[in-house]
This record gives sequence, structure tokens and C-alpha cells, in this order.
Amino acid sequence: MFNHLTTLADARLLITGGAGLIGAALASQARSLGAQVIVLDDLSAYDADTYAILGTTRGTPGLTVGDINDRPLIERLTGGSDFVIHAAAYSTVAGCVRNPDAAFAANVAGTYEVLRAAAHARNVQRLVYISSAQVYGHGVAGPDEVQVFTEDQPTNPLNPYAGAKLWGETHTRHLLEAAGVDYTIVRPFSVYGERQIPKPAPGPGWWPSSACTPASVKNCRSTTAGARSATSSTLTTPPTPSSPL
Ligand SMILES: NC(=O)c1ccc[n+]([C@@H]2O[C@H](COP(=O)([O-])OP(=O)(O)OC[C@H]3O[C@@H](n4cnc5c(N)ncnc54)[C@H](O)[C@@H]3O)[C@@H](O)[C@H]2O)c1
Repeated sequence: MFNHLTTLADARLLITGGAGLIGAALASQARSLGAQVIVLDDLSAYDADTYAILGTTRGTPGLTVGDINDRPLIERLTGGSDFVIHAAAYSTVAGCVRNPDAAFAANVAGTYEVLRAAAHARNVQRLVYISSAQVYGHGVAGPDEVQVFTEDQPTNPLNPYAGAKLWGETHTRHLLEAAGVDYTIVRPFSVYGERQIPKPAPGPGWWPSSACTPASVKNCRSTTAGARSATSSTLTTPPTPSSPL
């Protein structure tokens, strides 16, 4: 059976955010398939110990510590790549709500820089943009009150993280189609697995205190941590304008 992944053997693969949970797993898999993996990550999401658990230290071969908004840098790295996986993001829903400047810088402006560079580089054959199931909002009510999510249903982003992801999808189409670069957009739901470490919980005042009764405080803490963690973000209730942010 033809295995598309054999295409990666000896290919130069740039993974933005390649030190994070998903990017590191993809990098590991791609290396095992013989790809020459280049990771661009600013190492902003975790402390050094957590990155080490995920498989990255500052001495990791192929790692460039830098920002996707650094235009000369992203141009140089895409210029030496056959494929690009764009996984870098400020990847927490709650964080993006609390800090929309950072969300815009990483998830909109930074994504633009990656797309722009991939479109201009003559060598990039395909870019994979990691969006999010957050673009669906709450989904559609199905039988038995179970929410249903299908690829062709209308999108309904309910927070700055989701809005930025949808913006990234649209501009992946616009910029890469115009440039003749193939692309794939994926919308993961909650991703979890080996080596995962919860991100730090946000500071006080984020979650409505009325939701945290003594009986439910353990649940509240995990929910709050989940709101901070992209790996649980699709399961948390998006904040409403009245939430104490
Ligand atoms: N984990 C999930 O459940 C999930 C679900 C849906 C979508 N996603 C998306 O998948 C991608 C990877 O998610 P993850 O869980 O691995 O997140 P993660 O936070 O573990 O990894 C993202 C990496 O991007 C890096 N980064 C952030 N801003 C950067 C910048 N400006 N320049 C360079 N690097 C930067 C961070 O330092 C981090 O190492 C993200 O785009 C995220 O939004 C994740």
C-alpha cells in the first residue's frame, strides 16, 4: 500500500511550534521517517523542564529558538524547506481571552508571516496549518442533545483564539492558493497523550467564583487548568462577556 508519509524521507520539514506538545510529537515521527526536521519555536509556552520532558532542550539538533514574527528568520527557514507544518500558536483559549494582544501577535500576525514566507518560497510544496475545532463553537445540537461537529457545518468562533484560528484558515486558502502551494488545514479537538504536562493555571479572577463551591473545587481547578490548556480547550465553556476576566 502506498504510504504518503514516505514522501518525508530525506525531505526538509519545518515545524513551527515544534517544541510544543503536538509539534514535538510530529517532529519525532517525521525524524523516524527520515525527514530532516527543522523546528522553529520561541519556547514561550512552558518552562525548560517541561520542554525537556516533551523532548526539546536548547541543544536539540535542528532547533532554532525564535519568533515566527521574525520575517528574515521565517523567510530563511521556509526557503530551506520542502514542507511546513505551522503549529506555533498562543494555544490557550483563556490566555487569548485575557491577553488578546499576545493572541493577535502569535496567532494572526505570526501566522501571516508563516503563510507569507511559504507563499514566497519557491521550494515549499505543502503547508499544514493546525487550526482548531474551536472554530465550530458549540457545534450543532444532534439527537439526544449530543453536540455534533461536521466539517461542512457553519463555523462559529466564540473567543479570540477561535477567531484567530478561523482567520488563519481563510488566509491559508487565500495566500497559498494564489501562490500555487498545496495546503492542508486540520481542526484538532482535544489532543492528549504521553509526555503531556498541564499548563499553569491562570491567575485569580479568571473563572467565575460562583462555579467553585467547596464540593466542586477539585473539579473547578481542573476545569480552570483545562481552560488554560489547549489540550482541553475544546471542552471548556467559552467565557462570556460577563465573565470576570
Ligand atoms: N493541544 C490541543 O488539544 C490542540 C487542539 C486544537 C488545536 N491545537 C493547535 O495545535 C497547535 C499545537 O498545539 P500544542 O498543544 O502543541 O500547543 P503548545 O503550546 O504545546 O505548542 C505550541 C508551541 O508554539 C510556540 N510558540 C508560540 N508562539 C510562538 C511564536 N510567536 N514563535 C515561535 N513559536 C511560538 C510555543 O512556545 C509552543 O512551544 C497550536 O496551533 C494549537 O492552537 C491544539
